[in-house]
Amino acid sequence: MASLQEQIHIHEQEIKSFIPSGAADLENYRIRFLGTKGIVKQLSAEIKNVPPDQRKEAGQMLNAFKQLAEEKYESNINLQQATAVKTPEMDLTLPGTPLPIGTRHPLRIIENRIISIFEKIGFSVATGPEIEDDWHNFTSLNMPEHHPARDMQDTFYVAQNPDWVLRTHTSSVQARILETQPLPVRVICPGRVYRNETISARAHCFFHQCEGLYVDKDVSFADLKQTLYYFVTEMFGEDTKVRFRPSYFPFTEPSAEMDISCTVCGGSGCNLCKHTGWVEILGCGMVHPNMLTNFGIDPEVYTGFAFGMGVERITQIKFQVNDLRLYSQNDVRFLRQFQGL
Ligand code: DAH
Repeated sequence: MASLQEQIHIHEQEIKSFIPSGAADLENYRIRFLGTKGIVKQLSAEIKNVPPDQRKEAGQMLNAFKQLAEEKYESNINLQQATAVKTPEMDLTLPGTPLPIGTRHPLRIIENRIISIFEKIGFSVATGPEIEDDWHNFTSLNMPEHHPARDMQDTFYVAQNPDWVLRTHTSSVQARILETQPLPVRVICPGRVYRNETISARAHCFFHQCEGLYVDKDVSFADLKQTLYYFVTEMFGEDTKVRFRPSYFPFTEPSAEMDISCTVCGGSGCNLCKHTGWVEILGCGMVHPNMLTNFGIDPEVYTGFAFGMGVERITQIKFQVNDLRLYSQNDVRFLRQFQGL
């Protein structure tokens, strides 16, 4: 006859592979293994026949076996009880419980709106890399090494390669477009940019911009103004006023910054417009001839305009968000507020 250890082993295999086909099957299992005349009891009675030097080990095996038999029963009876309660209620023809779904991020809502406004007048979307080389982020944009304008943007450099930076603006995509696309070009370039800023309500080390570029024969400053005016009325409403202030950007000449009449107070003065009635929304200008020359384009034949806006800025004005940090904290209480907008 098989030793106690061998018998335990055989029954263990049986228990492990046992899957009850129903309540009756599980009850048979209980009687067979755990009943008063069941296998656990029978094997326990045999311990006295085991030679004394093996008894300790056999006892331990027996205990483990008993535990296995009981656990199998417990887990299956729990499962049966759980399903027994649910079964009468279950109607598979009913629609399921809806899973909570996410909402669109406010920055993405605004970015999509910017894109669709410009798509309506023939702009297409272009993107570029976030790790950029010096040429596309600075030098080709008329900002050679040691140009003071480089200090306007605190740059993150990539440790592995001194020529690489995290792009400080989406103007780098302009450079890539002029380098690769046949003229005329009319593109809008949304994307994330990085600057080495201390994080606060008003500054962040990463944010989003949307760049625009139009290069063709006979593009004028009037085209730039009209295009941006169209954008503003689409985004902020017919009544919005614009004003252009002369400014400086190395890659445009002349350059301007554009303000819109404050959409919150309508001009009477509030915190958003710092009581001036105007809020700045973007930088723009006519593409600098040096930049066109950098890409082998003859500035006597072609002209163009460019502009760059901060997506956070537009979103802040549209949705009255007063702290930039909210955009990246992933707090659903914040994010849910823009549902359906
Ligand atoms: N790149 C500028 C910045 O990040 C924004 C900008 C200004 C973009 C004027 C342009 C432009 O294309 O023409 O501050």
